[in-house]
Amino acid sequence: MALEILILAAGQGKRMRSSLPKVLHPLAGRPLLAHVLDTARELSPRKIIVVHGHGAEQVKEAFPEKHIEWALQAEQLGTAHAVMQAMPRVSADADVLLLYGDVPLVRVATLRRLLEAARDGLAVLTADLEDPAAYGRVVRDASGRVKRIVEQRDASEAERAIREINAGFYALSAQRLSGWLKKIDNRNAQKEYYLTDLVGFAVAEGAPVVAVKAADAWEAAGVNSKRELANLESQYRKIRAEELLEAGVTLTDPARIDVRGALECGRDVAIDVNCVFEGRVSLGDRVRIGPNCVVRYCTIAAGTEVLGFCFMENSAIGERCRIGPYARLRPGAQLAEEVHIGNFVEVKASRLGAGSKANHLSYLGDSEIGERVNVGAGTITCNYDGAAKHRTVIEDDCFIGSDATLVAPVRIARGSYIGAGSTISKDTPAGQLTVARARQVSIPGWKPPRKKEKG
Ligand code: UD1
Ligand code: CA
Repeated sequence: MALEILILAAGQGKRMRSSLPKVLHPLAGRPLLAHVLDTARELSPRKIIVVHGHGAEQVKEAFPEKHIEWALQAEQLGTAHAVMQAMPRVSADADVLLLYGDVPLVRVATLRRLLEAARDGLAVLTADLEDPAAYGRVVRDASGRVKRIVEQRDASEAERAIREINAGFYALSAQRLSGWLKKIDNRNAQKEYYLTDLVGFAVAEGAPVVAVKAADAWEAAGVNSKRELANLESQYRKIRAEELLEAGVTLTDPARIDVRGALECGRDVAIDVNCVFEGRVSLGDRVRIGPNCVVRYCTIAAGTEVLGFCFMENSAIGERCRIGPYARLRPGAQLAEEVHIGNFVEVKASRLGAGSKANHLSYLGDSEIGERVNVGAGTITCNYDGAAKHRTVIEDDCFIGSDATLVAPVRIARGSYIGAGSTISKDTPAGQLTVARARQVSIPGWKPPRKKEKG
């Protein structure tokens, strides 16, 4: 089968009341159109053609992928008009699947059923809605065969009562599509070229029209307003939480977790409330994530516990570590096993060896820290001199006293002790105590200052 997928994405989305083109509004942190493209790609089509129009340049720039072909619809004269703009790019022998850039949650399996059903005619995706709102209605004849689709604005009282709606997705051969497109006019309430007229033409020619019903109504849900967008966001959240529960993950409250990327979990993982996962995240066996954490593009190995209020991105965390509460891991944090990162500790582009600890109030940036190192409270690696970044190396078994400032580039050799409050700007010798601070003095006969008496 030579499948070519056409995605309509030229509409403005007036009801969003936004200057951002509708298909660029984010759902789960990514543009609506990105979700549709993901789904489209899973069907391995020969081509993906996107019809863009409103905010054309902005939309195109958001998707620099080479395999997307763009067709411009300069004026938005309706869904059929949009398809007409793309027809020069559609191959004559193709099977065509028509999707919308603002209907993001349709399942791949549902689209497969739609393609199957289109074998010798036209297949239309429909759904039963409690509130059919402004959707086009599927009108059937007495024997239940699909007769036509009528837009809400053109519908009679009786037709408006129909709860089966048109999701707007169709599958058919390019040959039939181009034939029927030629017949579509704009004699209707909106003076637009309606793609829904395909159904009427198919019926008139006696070609089979199959309505494929989506298993869940949300598969057909489009975004026309911020309210609908918010509804889909919570639907998306629910779908992802269900997947985790299904996979055996413990969620304290499935309504209070946001999985916005690909989250992979081992056995007996537990996630507390209000956590957000973005991008690729993998959690090993028995990993526990405390409440209110944000985790983006991280791998966390087995047995590690992340306490509440941590923010971690692009980091790799080893087994049996303890992170937080209130820790921040920035890109390039690499922790070996049994590392402890405590409250108000920030780690950036740094490696910590097995068993090392930084438990309180520290900044560790651009550093290489060995095994069994103890980083005292308030320790700062001064990695930036105003122009360039420099590295700090702390070898195995060092003890860094509280409130030390390590001015990079600097190397703290194996087994060094650094006295509390030291400012270290030169390499230290192995196994010795280095202290670099003003000597403590007490001044005999010193008197506290007095306020002047008012004369
Ligand atoms: C359309 C269907 C309606 C269906 C609903 C499902 C028609 C006439 N009506 O209505 O039966 O229930 O979708 O969501 O087809 N677009 C363009 N160019 C245009 C017009 C639209 O690219 O000139 C794109 C939009 O960006 C959007 C999609 O087509 O992605 C649907 O357009 P929209 O205006 O939302 O159609 P509806 O009126 O909702
Ligand atoms: Ca719509």
